Amino acid sequence: PSVKNRRLSLAQEEKLSRDMRELYNELIPTPESEQRRSKFLAKLERLLSDRWPNSSIKVNVFGSTGNCLGTLASDVDVCITTDNNELSQVCSIAELLASQGMERVVCVSRAKVPIVKVWDPELQVACDLNVNNPIALENTSLVRSYVAIDDRVRPLAMIIKHWAKRRILNDAALGSTLSSYTWICLTLNFLQTLKTPVLPSLQAQPGLQPHILDGVNVAFEKDLTKFADFGRKNTSSLGKLLYEFFRFYAHEFDFETTVASVRLGGHVAKSVKGWHMLLDNRLCVEEPFNINRNLANTADDTSMRGIHKELRRAFDLVSNGKLDECCEQFAYPT
Ligand code: CTP
Ligand code: MG
Repeated sequence: PSVKNRRLSLAQEEKLSRDMRELYNELIPTPESEQRRSKFLAKLERLLSDRWPNSSIKVNVFGSTGNCLGTLASDVDVCITTDNNELSQVCSIAELLASQGMERVVCVSRAKVPIVKVWDPELQVACDLNVNNPIALENTSLVRSYVAIDDRVRPLAMIIKHWAKRRILNDAALGSTLSSYTWICLTLNFLQTLKTPVLPSLQAQPGLQPHILDGVNVAFEKDLTKFADFGRKNTSSLGKLLYEFFRFYAHEFDFETTVASVRLGGHVAKSVKGWHMLLDNRLCVEEPFNINRNLANTADDTSMRGIHKELRRAFDLVSNGKLDECCEQFAYPT
C-alpha cells in the first residue's frame, strides 16, 4: 500500500497510546513548578501595585498557563489589565522589573501587541507580559473549554505542541513557522472535523448572544454540561487520534484551497473568505474570534513546504509506532 494508506495494527496502536501516556506524564507541570509560577504572579502583582499604588492593576494569565496545555518548560504569559495609561507604555514596566532583580528584560514596544519579556532568576520563571489585550484572555478561555470537554484533548494537544517544539516548527517569533497557538487550533479543528467528532464548535451554538469586545464577537457557549457526552461516540484511542492527525495534515487536508476554522468547527473554502488571492499555497488557520486574521501567516511558502515534509515524516514514524523517533530533537545538518 502507498505510504499514506499505511494502517496502524492494533498492537502498534496500543503501544503508541501507552507511549503517549508516558510522554504526557513527563510533560505535565509538577506541583513544584506550579508553585513557582504562582509565587511569580504574586510577586509581579506586588511589584506593580507598590510602584503604582493608586491605579487598579490586575495580573491575568493567558496562553498555556491559562489553557491547561502548559508543559514543564512553558513560559508564563501575563496580560495586565489596568486603567493607567502609563502602563500601556510597556517599557515603564520593563524598567521597573529590571530594577527589581529580573533578568534578560526585553521591551518590544513597536510590535502590534507591545510586550515585555523577563526571566526571574529567583523563581526560575520566564514570562511574556502585555497590557490590556482582552482578546487573548478570551481565546485562552475558549481553548480551556475545549480541553475540558474531552479527556483526550489535553494529552493529544500537549504532545503535538511538544512534537512541534522538538522539530522546531513552533517559533513564530523567528518569522518562519507556526506558533503553539496555531498548532493548538489545528488540533482542535481536527477533532471537530472527524467523521465522528470529538469536539463541537462552541461558537456555532444556537441562541448565543453576540458579545463584542475590541470590535470582534467573542461569544461562545460557556455551559459545558451540554457537551458532557459529546465525544463518547468516538471511541478512538489516543494513539489512533495522533495517527489520524498526522495522516490528515500530511496527506488529506488541501492547503491550497481550504481554511481551518475552529469558529465553524469545519473547513471553509479560501474563496469564501477572499483569502485565495492573497495567499497562494499557504496554510490558512482562522483566528477563532478575530476572523480576518490568518494564524498561519507567519509561515511563508518555503517554510510551509518544510512543515509539510515534517508532517509526512511524523505520519511515517507514528504509523510504525515510533513516537520517540517522531519527537526526536531536530538537528541542523552540520
Ligand atoms: N496568541 C494570539 N495570537 C497568536 C499567537 C498567540 O492571540 N497568533 C495568544 C493566545 O491567547 C495564546 C497565547 O497568545 O493562548 C500564547 O500563545 P503561544 O505562546 O503560542 O501558546 P502557548 O499555549 O502559551 O504555548 P507555549 O506552551 O509554547 O508557550
Ligand atoms: Mg506561552
